[in-house]
Amino acid sequence: MSLKSKTESVFFCSSCGYESKKWMGQCPACGEWNTFSEEAVARVSSKASVGAAARGNVKAVSLSEIQSDEEIRMDTGFTELSRVLGGGIVPGSLILVGGDPGIGKSTLLLQTAANMTAAGKKVIYISGEESLRQIKLRADRVGSISDGLKFMSETNIDLITEVLEREKPDLAVIDSVQTMYTSEAQSVPGSVTQVRECAQRMMMCAKTNEIACFLVGHVTKEGTVAGPRVLEHIVDTVLQFESGDQFGYRLLRSAKNRFGSTNEIGVFEMSSEGLKEVKNPSEYLLEGRPKNATGAVVTCLIEGSRPMLMEVQGLAAETQYGLARRQANGIDYNRFTMLLAVLSKRCGLNLSNIDAYVNIAGGMKVTQPSADLAVVASVISSFKNIAVAEDTVIFGEVGLSGEVRSVPQVNERIKEAVKLGFKRVILPKVNLKGLKKYDGIELCGINFISELFALL
Ligand code: TYD
Ligand code: MG
Repeated sequence: MSLKSKTESVFFCSSCGYESKKWMGQCPACGEWNTFSEEAVARVSSKASVGAAARGNVKAVSLSEIQSDEEIRMDTGFTELSRVLGGGIVPGSLILVGGDPGIGKSTLLLQTAANMTAAGKKVIYISGEESLRQIKLRADRVGSISDGLKFMSETNIDLITEVLEREKPDLAVIDSVQTMYTSEAQSVPGSVTQVRECAQRMMMCAKTNEIACFLVGHVTKEGTVAGPRVLEHIVDTVLQFESGDQFGYRLLRSAKNRFGSTNEIGVFEMSSEGLKEVKNPSEYLLEGRPKNATGAVVTCLIEGSRPMLMEVQGLAAETQYGLARRQANGIDYNRFTMLLAVLSKRCGLNLSNIDAYVNIAGGMKVTQPSADLAVVASVISSFKNIAVAEDTVIFGEVGLSGEVRSVPQVNERIKEAVKLGFKRVILPKVNLKGLKKYDGIELCGINFISELFALL
């Protein structure tokens, strides 16, 4: 039976994939300007596309009719990556890895592919960006890779899915989805139609053949290439690979995960032999910390399921040019100014002609209010010129009346502090209730921020 199809042209927003019959200056879905471009699409009439054989054979089932083996996850060989995925790769799942160019997506996936091959899995790595010779150059840098890992340099998704259906690997890597095309869509590779079509193809192929698949997606600032946002709805998991900027380490976050939590982060470091895991980020983040410097305070946050110690640096200096400056790096500016207001109102600290700065060392970003108390302490410490003892960890949320409010997962935070040799924790007093006893660490509970003055 021949399918009735006709070609028409449609405008797509290259930022979010919104579809429109006519050109628009601003996208009504995502609000971006000048992102619409015209693409030809083939429309298949919907009645004709349902095969006659399928009619009458489709039925809904109840849960007990669905067979499920115990959940099997494949280990990636990187504990950081496996944790972010929620405990490993679910067979047949589609994982999108996004990130700026040069951040290390190809390297991460090549190493993962190598690890999994070494663990006896069948893996095919498909690159549309690099020739086989270029892949080999990279592979030589990251160490010995067994011959079991197969490579392809190909951009036609129809040919790729054909190979995958024949070979049925456990894992396929597509680097990158923007370079792929199918001859059935008529626009250029990287356009919204092509990207969406290719991702859809890969999903069909992955689900029917139980092939887990990593898709690399580019993000460009100009929005010329279809952003992975179109893809986010199609795939099971979206991972974001980002850098802590000039600090050499890379953070892996999940923005969407059908099979796990999205709070987890993985920490990697780029070396001359590829990516290395940073298993104890607290140690890494506190490395090279100044001893007995005023304004430096260590706090403990929970990132996903893991406690992480980091350093908050505050600076309070007399204003030179009239208007007092406030600057916050790594924490929300409004939160910072609110904490300063609480500090001046509730503790009588006159900050009106004081420049106040706060910075989270290592380029980390903090969004949790449990860092509040450490921020307050760092400003007090710098203002009063008294160094906080270097073996002290401070955490707690601060409210508008200057009260110190409870935070979750206190035991995990204290354990991390004990592990790294800290001797004293300043925390919300309400959190002391029902807390376990810890040897070798003093717990100072406080109710109001004014009590900090006596403790620093
Ligand atoms: P790459 O994985 O190609 O990034 P992406 O695929 O996200 O564009 O990584 C490129 C960068 O990583 C490049 O700047 C070189 C650096 N790199 C190393 O420092 N060490 C290595 O062993 C490798 C393979 C790359
Ligand atoms: Mg790459």
